[in-house]
Amino acid sequence: MDSLSILVVDDEKAQRDMVCGFLRKEGFQVLGAISGEEALEILRSRSIDMVLSDFRMPGLSGLELLQGAKKINPETPVVIVTAYGTVDSAVQAMKEGAYDYLTKPIQLDELLQLIRRIEERQHLVREVKELKEKLLDRFRFDNIVGSSGKMQEVLSLVARVAASDSTVLIRGESGTGKELIAKALHYNSPRSRGPFIRVNIAALPETLLESELFGHEKGAFTGAAETRRGRFEVAHGGTLFLDEIGDLSSSLQVKLLRVLQEREFERLGSTRPIKVDIRILAATNQNLEEAVQEKRFREDLYYRLNVVPIFLPPLRERREDIPDLLDHLLRKFSQAQRKKVEGISREALALLLKYNYPGNVREMENLIERAVILTRHNVIIPEDLPSYLRESPITEQPERADTGKSLTGAVEQIEMQMIRRALEVHGGVQVRAAEELGISERVLRYKIKKYGL
Ligand SMILES: Nc1ncnc2c1ncn2[C@@H]1O[C@H](COP(=O)(O)OP(=O)(O)OP(=O)(O)O)[C@@H](O)[C@H]1O
Ligand SMILES: [Mg+2]
Repeated sequence: MDSLSILVVDDEKAQRDMVCGFLRKEGFQVLGAISGEEALEILRSRSIDMVLSDFRMPGLSGLELLQGAKKINPETPVVIVTAYGTVDSAVQAMKEGAYDYLTKPIQLDELLQLIRRIEERQHLVREVKELKEKLLDRFRFDNIVGSSGKMQEVLSLVARVAASDSTVLIRGESGTGKELIAKALHYNSPRSRGPFIRVNIAALPETLLESELFGHEKGAFTGAAETRRGRFEVAHGGTLFLDEIGDLSSSLQVKLLRVLQEREFERLGSTRPIKVDIRILAATNQNLEEAVQEKRFREDLYYRLNVVPIFLPPLRERREDIPDLLDHLLRKFSQAQRKKVEGISREALALLLKYNYPGNVREMENLIERAVILTRHNVIIPEDLPSYLRESPITEQPERADTGKSLTGAVEQIEMQMIRRALEVHGGVQVRAAEELGISERVLRYKIKKYGL
């Protein structure tokens, strides 16, 4: 494990140098700041594992620094140093979310003990993350986020049909991940080494689409200067993904039906039948049943395609996935943009958790990409989000309880468990429990009250 990076904030040079020197000797990465303002600058520009700040300073006080630090990254533990006898300020700091406090003069062994505990906490946080990932391994496909019950159902179906050659019809609103699922089906099938070929049916006019799909011989029509293989041929040995299948014209519906039945077709301008070994996947956001009723879509083709239907629920019906998706997309775009954007401020998160996402995951993706590009901090703040998110009336969502799954929640859970265990082990004797936990008795009492233990 890398050594902890610690930011020491104190306006008094002698005190700052003493603490910095001691911590450096102990092997930590140490940065000093002479004011709260400077400390916030540092917190915005790089990742810090712990802040140790004096309470009383000219300019920003330790308390204000604490509030600012929490905004930048709510996970960063902040320890406040108060003058002897000023318990009120310490209590205030704890209420504002300080991790702990020390009184002057700082006892170096006490400080060290505190840091060890923070190290342990970080270790646990990492373990919790890894555990969570392991749980998700059940039906995990690279890059697909979905721990909600609804998505787990989808992914278990994907896992079951991927290996077969059956035709799959993927349904769902725009932006729900239909193409992503098509790729997962291909890359988890025995055909994964073969090609994955996508044809966007809505993007091409009928005549072009026909030669795109079936290919043509030289001279088959004006402009056909060369013989060209169609997508059905190119996909040989792999998977052909027919996207936006609902837009297929009626004459091409007939031709496609034949390929599906006989796995055989001819290039335009040729009578020589070509046999291919392909698996067909199709997707649409249209109501195909209605199209069949209205005779816009052939019923026989519908049944040929709809062998295994997979329905992707809209994001608003699986809001539990929103936090994980935000996390995933933030990582994806901060990597792509080479920017160190590590989190989302509490206020921005509240907006993102509340939003209804009519454009589903694709819309969320656009929001996060834009925010990562715009932000000037290492967290996303409300100003980085489009104004319609900020101004939209706050509509209470029924399923908001799951925001408790955030990392902060997990850390508190761990802390609570550690305290409970220590109290049990020491038969409820607080002095001993506090000693084992490496915190002062006062802090322990505070936490017992906080967690209602
Ligand atoms: N569950 C998910 N986990 C991670 N990324 C996702 C998920 N669902 C969708 N995405 C991402 O959102 C974007 C939109 O997904 P995709 O293109 O598969 O949707 P679609 O249903 O085909 O949309 P459209 O109907 O607009 O073509 C993609 O970049 C995709 O990677
Ligand atoms: Mg699509």
